[in-house]
Amino acid sequence: MCWGVIFILASAFISCRDKRDPGRVYMPDMAYSRAYEAYAPNNLKQEGINYITYPVDGTIKRGDLFAYTLLNDSNGYKMAAGVKDPLPALDSTQMLEAQRLFNINCAICHGANMDAQGPLATSGKVGGIANLKLAQYINEPVGQMYHVVTYGKGNMGSYASQLDKKQRWMVVQYIKSEQTKGSAAAKDSSSSKAPANDSSVTKK
Ligand code: HEC
Repeated sequence: MCWGVIFILASAFISCRDKRDPGRVYMPDMAYSRAYEAYAPNNLKQEGINYITYPVDGTIKRGDLFAYTLLNDSNGYKMAAGVKDPLPALDSTQMLEAQRLFNINCAICHGANMDAQGPLATSGKVGGIANLKLAQYINEPVGQMYHVVTYGKGNMGSYASQLDKKQRWMVVQYIKSEQTKGSAAAKDSSSSKAPANDSSVTKK
């Protein structure tokens, strides 16, 4: 009994010496792969074998969108205005998914109605949240919105790690489709000459 306790204490003590040392491995082939793992360090270079574990720069995963190459600076922001949405118009199912993504990621600040009435806005936790129902954002080019969702702006962070490129464009399409709903003054940039307060101007 007493020896048992001493044995357990002793082995606990010994086994805690070096946290990085796995100690004795019963079946090393099970614990450590003998094959080279992708993306893992290997010593092929030292063996004179030219093999790169990372995708070649500039290559694109099958089915993925082209990389977004504009830089996160004021010039990139300006140039983003000319970037076109690579996706076709979303169908109703995809639009629902885009709405879901917006509500999860963006509504906390921008509000489900995009009028900057999300919980983080009304509680005053985050200041300066853009009211996406304002004309300046209704007229904002889609590329510029995509740029901001990709890199963030002011108090808004980047969503590049939460949303992939396609999802970011979907969310932008969703914003564009919602921005003008329920507002007679709403107009898109191509029809900006229409009188802003003409209630007969209807939106498609
Ligand atoms: C933490 C709060 C917060 C969240 C979450 C957030 N935003 Fe923002 N957003 C802001 C703020 C603040 C601004 C104003 C930035 C500025 O102009 O300084 C802004 C601005 C914008 C703009 C206007 C960009 C411009 O060119 O001025 C767009 C479009 C936008 N957000 C879209 C989104 C989308 C889409 C999401 C979700 C993927 C999102 N935001 C999530 C806080 C947030």
